Amino acid sequence: MMHRVLSIDDDEVFVDDLLYHLGERFDWLKLTDGAGAIRTIEESLPDVVLLDIELPGEASGLDILSDIRKEAPRVPVVMVTRHDPADMGAEAWRRGCFGYIAKCAPIEQLAAQIERAIEEAGLYRESEARRQEILERTGRLVGESRAMQGLREEIARVARTETTVLITGETGTGKELVAREIHERSPRRHRLLLPVNCAALEKSLVASVLFGHEKGAFTGAVRRQPGKFAMADGGTLFLDEIGEVPMDVQGVLLRVLEDKVVYPLGSSKGVPVDVRVIASTNRDLAADSRNGRFREDLYYRLRVVPIHVPPLRERKEDIPLLAQHFLDLLALDMKRKRCRLSSASLTRLLGHHWPGNVRELRHVLQYAFIHSDGDVLEDAVLANLVQPEVRQATYKEARRQAMDAFDRNFIASLIRECDGNLSEVARRMHLSREGLRKMMKRLGIERPDRGTDTCSAAE
Ligand SMILES: Nc1ncnc2c1ncn2[C@@H]1O[C@H](COP(=O)(O)OP(=O)(O)OP(=O)(O)O)[C@@H](O)[C@H]1O
Ligand SMILES: [Mg+2]
Repeated sequence: MMHRVLSIDDDEVFVDDLLYHLGERFDWLKLTDGAGAIRTIEESLPDVVLLDIELPGEASGLDILSDIRKEAPRVPVVMVTRHDPADMGAEAWRRGCFGYIAKCAPIEQLAAQIERAIEEAGLYRESEARRQEILERTGRLVGESRAMQGLREEIARVARTETTVLITGETGTGKELVAREIHERSPRRHRLLLPVNCAALEKSLVASVLFGHEKGAFTGAVRRQPGKFAMADGGTLFLDEIGEVPMDVQGVLLRVLEDKVVYPLGSSKGVPVDVRVIASTNRDLAADSRNGRFREDLYYRLRVVPIHVPPLRERKEDIPLLAQHFLDLLALDMKRKRCRLSSASLTRLLGHHWPGNVRELRHVLQYAFIHSDGDVLEDAVLANLVQPEVRQATYKEARRQAMDAFDRNFIASLIRECDGNLSEVARRMHLSREGLRKMMKRLGIERPDRGTDTCSAAE
């Protein structure tokens, strides 16, 4: 499909020239002033707007730029000027233009600028859509264990900074989710979070994927290709499984992190990039760097801020909340009634060792949910899936976990029964309200919505 470009320009000679050269390449729309700009954009949804900064008439190019940013913020606007773009003031940047281009620039440069704007706007839209989807589907990090609370604090602290972060942890512990959360809370959240799974890349291609290449840089490089660093400019690059990056590329990566400049393969011209890097690994990189499998200098550069996500078996208190969270998501997905865990099934989940961590829990519940039809997940369905732990938890641990699980279920159902009136819940449990509060906090039970709690305020 041809991309649509809206030109807003009264300079007929320039526009005719553009159409003469690029008429076939894009689907063009023309306006000679900004009067109907917003309406035209809303009706014909162009992929990019080329806007003359020296428009005559009441609204200047800058005014129209502001209008477009306000009314149609997803459409990138490239400013066109008769002057040298280097001389243009910062005002258009401040108002959010995508870039500047001189009218006298070579036609190919104009075309490249248009294409870059289209591509980046596409990536941005995609990431926005993906972001919404992810937030809706997986929500936030679930869990109220001390370990999770600590993790949240670390995330909040590091999100405000620009430092490189290294996330470590076993497979399935939630490292990618942590990376997303850091990005979502950072000032870069409106830009792209670009994940790159380094383990999935062919070794010989890692450098060109990360840094890009020029046409003809190597056999098979038939066209110029921007790298992930350039694509993530202004945003965050998530280098998943960083331990799999080949040694020679590790050296280049270190230089990019230091200098914030990338050299696409086959080019001697550096491209400045403004990218925050978050890396993750489930390998023991410290050991790898000691015995020469990973560059030590890069290891230290990456772990400016290390974040460790503990395995699920070390925070079993999170299992009831996580399990219910996944069951709720499943029920939503499959348009079925909400399903709860029986206490026997919860005890079984608590007894498992979870080598695959949260991902394993999620998969087990998915299977069990599909294979049960009541609104309580029965233990029998889980029995085949979750084998009891080889090394049993100590009696004390197992007992405490089972009791916590019981308390959690008990209080949750009592809250429902009392329509969220916590004073009533406390009374029935022979506890003070403060005692109940503390207990709920320890067990990670959320307070009911304000709306339902008002009755207790009225007492
Ligand atoms: N605390 C959590 N709350 C909610 N969902 C979680 C949590 N931790 C993990 N998950 C879910 O578990 C699954 C695995 O998480 P994720 O992909 O982040 O793990 P990972 O550590 O990157 O694993 P790997 O090392 O195998 O890549 C995902 O579906 C994720 O949404
Ligand atoms: Mg991962």
